[in-house]
Amino acid sequence: MKIELRKWRPEDKDALIMMCNAIDRSYLSGRIPDPYTEEAAAWWLNMVKESEGKNGVFREILVDGKIVGNISVEQNTDVFCKDAEIGYYLLPEAKSKGIMTEAARQICEIAFETLDITRITGLVYEPNTASRRVLEKNGFELEGIKRNAIYKNGRSYSDCIYGKLK
Ligand SMILES: CC(C)(COP(=O)(O)OP(=O)(O)OC[C@H]1O[C@@H](n2cnc3c(N)ncnc32)[C@H](O)[C@@H]1OP(=O)(O)O)[C@@H](O)C(=O)NCCC(=O)NCCS
Repeated sequence: MKIELRKWRPEDKDALIMMCNAIDRSYLSGRIPDPYTEEAAAWWLNMVKESEGKNGVFREILVDGKIVGNISVEQNTDVFCKDAEIGYYLLPEAKSKGIMTEAARQICEIAFETLDITRITGLVYEPNTASRRVLEKNGFELEGIKRNAIYKNGRSYSDCIYGKLK
């Protein structure tokens, strides 16, 4: 199994739309429109084009040449500008094969090389064990837990704050 990251390309819009309509959103924020439309994809790909390498790095996750996920590190603003947030998701059928552990390793390397940052932050719903393990196995440390900071679908969750220094 060959796991690679590739910059998002305009011709991958349909793959992006398909993926965002298939992902498990249980532990994601409401930032990704649902349903995920053509317009949402066009907006996002344009934002990526403008931001790539300046205040973020955005990559397709490829397994043996096929797009199965998305991963990014986006720089914060104002006094938090040396910090950046990692985010990721996979198609359901690609889960639990070690793919995100490897993709996160690669994107952290790219982000620290490309962006003017000193740390990367990961914010994870407390019960999202798989995501927490992805970060822990990549050298992120649990720095704190914001208790009941998240409210989604009628339920509260605590928000785990993970950090990795350059
Ligand atoms: C969370 C997610 C990115 C994990 O990616 P993945 O490629 O499946 O994870 P990996 O296969 O690299 O496994 C990482 C660790 O999680 C564990 N894991 C995998 N699936 C699991 C599951 N369903 N429940 C509990 N642990 C799980 C693995 O065993 C491994 O830990 P270990 O080394 O201690 O055994 C993926 O499930 C996903 O896309 N979920 C939906 C979107 C999402 O929640 N994104 C994260 C928001 S912070």
